[in-house]
Amino acid sequence: MKKNILIVPGDGIGQEVTVVGQKVLEKIAARFGHEFIFDHALMGHAAIEATGNPLPDETLAKMRATDAILFGAVGHPKYDNDPHAKVRPEQGLLRMRKELGLYANLRPIKLFDELLGASSIKPEILKGADILFFRELTGDVYFGKRERLDDGNTAYDTMIYSRYEVERIARKAFDAAMTRGKKLMSVDKANVLESSRLWREVVQDIAKEYPEVTVSHQFVDSAAMLLIKNPRDFDVVVTGNLFGDILTDEASQIAGSMGMLASASVGDSVGVYEPIHGSGHDITGMGVANPMASVLSVALLLEISFGLKTEAEAVIEAVDKVLKAGYRTRDIADATTPANMILGTEAVGEKTLEFL
Ligand code: IPM
Ligand code: MG
Repeated sequence: MKKNILIVPGDGIGQEVTVVGQKVLEKIAARFGHEFIFDHALMGHAAIEATGNPLPDETLAKMRATDAILFGAVGHPKYDNDPHAKVRPEQGLLRMRKELGLYANLRPIKLFDELLGASSIKPEILKGADILFFRELTGDVYFGKRERLDDGNTAYDTMIYSRYEVERIARKAFDAAMTRGKKLMSVDKANVLESSRLWREVVQDIAKEYPEVTVSHQFVDSAAMLLIKNPRDFDVVVTGNLFGDILTDEASQIAGSMGMLASASVGDSVGVYEPIHGSGHDITGMGVANPMASVLSVALLLEISFGLKTEAEAVIEAVDKVLKAGYRTRDIADATTPANMILGTEAVGEKTLEFL
């Protein structure tokens, strides 16, 4: 198979972990006889520094022309404490999602058995948890009208959804549920929000097309509680942009560390694959970032964008072997990990390539 892949490292540790992701893609190409042609593009703070724009036209043009995108992270602490900054790295991320029509963000929460001890949740509660989140990604309060009123002391953001937006993400989630445990939880705040009442109504309508799927509806506050109370009861979850953002960070603790979680953003055209962790400026340049989320994003890319299931499984198996052999980056190490088994980004990457 011959494919073009665009690498967009972005900022901070995004630049460190995508190097490993690309090497894994190169190894897969060599082992399975594919030809992957790589190109690179700037985004986020790195792009603002170079061009003044967090998503330069050149990057967007390359994104539209490629077969799949391996993405790092965007962000810089410089903007976080400056509410007045006019240009921000995250604007590039949101614009990319909108421009590429990436309305479905898949965030699989899968716990490798070896990491049962790395979570702050008790192992007996966690063992066997396997959840797939569908977070809507191009609507909601992220894209609704927002404004600071003239007096400067009042501001609002609009939580807004249209029927077609809920329908298309719900269908994707139901389709996935059919290939898994046939259980779907829709999360909203329909006891308060009108947009959530529409959300629930639409999910109930789509549910009629999938009589085999057991559907439940939870309010987001209760879902947040159940997630750490009974993570094993969850199968597929579908929710809006903001609730999904919050719940998936919470759910990352089920997998031991944010450093292990990959995501896929798909929709109208090209797919974007990225870790759910951010740019990690506190550890940037130290060589300690966990590259596994990027490596597992590669697995999602191979399976979802290219339909290469065997190759994707080979990547996941390599990660599993690294963990079984006892190697850890420091975010997933615990008191029992010997010091010589705690490796940096590059070394864990090399181990992954060896097992591949
Ligand atoms: C995510 C991130 C982004 C989001 C930020 C960086 C804008 O938290 O992808 O989950 O809120 O969507
Ligand atoms: Mg987030």
